[in-house]
Amino acid sequence: MTIRRAKWADLHRVLEIERSVFGRESYSSATFLAHALRDWKGFFVAETEEGEITGYVLVRLAFGLLTGRRGGITSIAVAAPHQRRGIGRRLLLHSLEYLRGRRAEEVDLEVGIANEPAQSLYQSLGFVRDRTLPHYYGQDKHGVRMVRALGETAAEGREGERKGRLSGRADPARHD
Ligand SMILES: CC(C)(COP(=O)(O)OP(=O)(O)OC[C@H]1O[C@@H](n2cnc3c(N)ncnc32)[C@H](O)[C@@H]1OP(=O)(O)O)[C@@H](O)C(=O)NCCC(=O)NCCS
Repeated sequence: MTIRRAKWADLHRVLEIERSVFGRESYSSATFLAHALRDWKGFFVAETEEGEITGYVLVRLAFGLLTGRRGGITSIAVAAPHQRRGIGRRLLLHSLEYLRGRRAEEVDLEVGIANEPAQSLYQSLGFVRDRTLPHYYGQDKHGVRMVRALGETAAEGREGERKGRLSGRADPARHD
């Protein structure tokens, strides 16, 4: 399994994964495309040796005079049959390296308050809860903002990454 930058030809499959995992809450094709075109350098897919796209991550990068360089995870998903094999972790680790390479100081993301699998993954990689986002995903569908520092002092995150690498889950070559 490899993680590589997305190509135009991957878009159809990525949208298929997006719809299959997020259902009614998935981005429309137009919205997804707008995000992807804006941040194509941060658009990565996981691909099996047979050439099947099994997951993707879309990473944003912004620069503010007061906030500095900030990264964000716009969307991440792994196709259901391939979940829980370490692909999401690999995609996130790749995203963190990409953002470090672009000298981002911090990364943030929004996640559904009830989405425990995703929150557990983020926590294992050093993200911490920042604040609740009431009704972020619609009426009574609250979200949580999570953040993680990317500098050399982000020790707890590095620890999570080490754990990920050593656990075997971060080496999906064993699975795919
Ligand atoms: C969240 C998601 C991307 C994780 O991808 P994945 O490839 O299945 O995750 P991994 O196999 O890398 O799992 C890494 C860790 O995440 C957590 N995790 C993942 N799936 C979990 C589940 N179903 N229940 C509990 N914890 C889970 C665990 O901590 C796991 O580590 P472990 O296997 O050592 O216990 C995937 O479940 C998904 O696509 N979900 C639907 C879309 C979504 O919710 N995206 C995030 C929106 S913010």
